[in-house]
Amino acid sequence: MPQLTVVDHPLAGHLLASLRDRTTEPERFRVLARNLATVLVLEATRDLATRGSRVATPLSDTDVRVLDGDVVAVPILRAGLGLLDPVTELFPNVRIGYAGLERDEATLRPTSYYLKVPELAGRVVLVLDPMLATGGSASFACSLLKERGATQVRLVCVVAAPEGVERLHADHPDVQVVTAALDDGLNDVGYIVPGLGDFGDRLFGTL
Ligand code: PRP
Ligand code: URA
Repeated sequence: MPQLTVVDHPLAGHLLASLRDRTTEPERFRVLARNLATVLVLEATRDLATRGSRVATPLSDTDVRVLDGDVVAVPILRAGLGLLDPVTELFPNVRIGYAGLERDEATLRPTSYYLKVPELAGRVVLVLDPMLATGGSASFACSLLKERGATQVRLVCVVAAPEGVERLHADHPDVQVVTAALDDGLNDVGYIVPGLGDFGDRLFGTL
């Protein structure tokens, strides 16, 4: 899988268009985020390991392939929670960790206020964080998870800025990024332009 995948599925663009729309209310924003996350997570997991098995259809036995290996999802609080539901629906056996990070509005530096994760070694770890802006939060999250044993980390985001992609790839060249859009850049207060505003505020109605 390439280090940066900008998902070009027409449905992803369609859903992102409404997420970007400033008039979209939180109730609809949450539905759109979930649906877009489904598309992104499918892309981020397209190379999961599988193994052969056999099943009996109503007509005969047949060879099938089933998932082989464990997936861990780690939403970055708060905004990453908006991407979590599709992961648990698509992968019922997923283990879930939580990383609480907050970006200081003045310095744009993230601090960690919570981290609870399952065993990470040998598992595919999906970090869920919708906005890759300066890349500080995503890079910090990847460092924390690697300290806990993660070796196969993928970042699922909705909108990425080139600055964030560059920072993440410099700090963590092994981490794959799957996003619905690569935007123009950051404004002078660290928001992605055109972006969609503050994802957490729009998701939770805290504007
Ligand atoms: C947002 C977003 C990312 C981070 C991205 O979180 O969800 O985690 O900013 O910015 P960066 O790439 O410059 O680090 P925020 O700190 O606003 O917290 P929230 O999810 O609680 O709203
Ligand atoms: N966090 C957000 O929610 N939006 C941005 O544009 C940047 C960081």
